[in-house]
Amino acid sequence: MAGLTHSALRQIFSRFGGVGLLSTEMLWAKRLPTENSRISPYLISTVLEKPLSYQLLVSSDREIAPAMDALHRLHADAIDLNMGCPHWSVGKSGCGFALMEQPENARRIVTEARKHTPLPLTAKIRLGVELDEEALRGFCTMLEDEGVDMLSVHARLKKESFARRPRWEWIARIKQWVGIPVVANGGIFTVQDARDCLGMCGADGLMLGRGAVIRPWLFAEIAREIYGCDIVGPVVFLPALYSTFIDLINELYRPERRLGRLKEFTYYFAGNYQFGHQLSSGIQGSRSVEEARERAAVFFENNGSPQSCANAATGTKLN
Ligand SMILES: Cc1cc2nc3c(=O)[nH]c(=O)nc-3n(C[C@H](O)[C@H](O)[C@H](O)COP(=O)(O)O)c2cc1C
Repeated sequence: MAGLTHSALRQIFSRFGGVGLLSTEMLWAKRLPTENSRISPYLISTVLEKPLSYQLLVSSDREIAPAMDALHRLHADAIDLNMGCPHWSVGKSGCGFALMEQPENARRIVTEARKHTPLPLTAKIRLGVELDEEALRGFCTMLEDEGVDMLSVHARLKKESFARRPRWEWIARIKQWVGIPVVANGGIFTVQDARDCLGMCGADGLMLGRGAVIRPWLFAEIAREIYGCDIVGPVVFLPALYSTFIDLINELYRPERRLGRLKEFTYYFAGNYQFGHQLSSGIQGSRSVEEARERAAVFFENNGSPQSCANAATGTKLN
């Protein structure tokens, strides 16, 4: 997720456990070959973040070879093609959801990508501009025929807001059309949501977005409670988790790249607190990471551990 699933947050996910595959945020294929992976916050990663899939924003098959060569040099574990982002800034470049609107271009891109990498090749899609079963089926089977190994489906239409209930039942249809694994995405914030989603669509896996940013231990809970993984139940102490995030961004990124990422993260993390808007607005108004840290400390002092965390099962503590 743009501005969010960089190395710092991915390391936190990994420490809690339960993640089958991590992902970078969407990366412009055109910029990848010249990006410096030692200092770019888009590309910095550590051995803790494994396996790691890199997500590409592509508009033309000509961008594929140089971008994939760069990802091979970075030791990517998988490559994902973003075909779902409806944001205008992405669409005007012919990337993201624009590829679902230009299926022939999408096909050329996938064919080229398949030729260029032996790595697992995946695609992330939405349901379409409108509910059109034939068009969606044609698009999904085209992706499979051209060599995509796995499909992640954000079960909303192009213009549907995040507030709308995702249409998980459409993922069940997609599963009937293709033989490759289908991963469900959209609206999973709790273990119960995960259960409901799987019950409705029978997906082969779950992709967490905002829910994981708010509760980075959600993967561990789902892996343990639904998939029966042998993972120690996470004990979460939110101030320590927040402090770990700040330590990691300080350690990983150059000073001018830190505060923006802290603000992005806080916007979601604050959702753990009843009065989280106070934390969020305090951090949005901070002029430095240290000022943000101090403001957060005052907030934590006045807002004890919220119920959601007090309920977490016993086990190791993230500190
Ligand atoms: C701030 C933000 C950034 C996002 N960035 C990306 C991205 O880089 N790549 C992508 O495939 N989806 C991106 N998404 C979409 C999410 O991956 C996900 O499909 C969507 O939020 C629905 O899932 P959720 O309800 O679990 O959040 C982003 C969403 C948000 C809110």
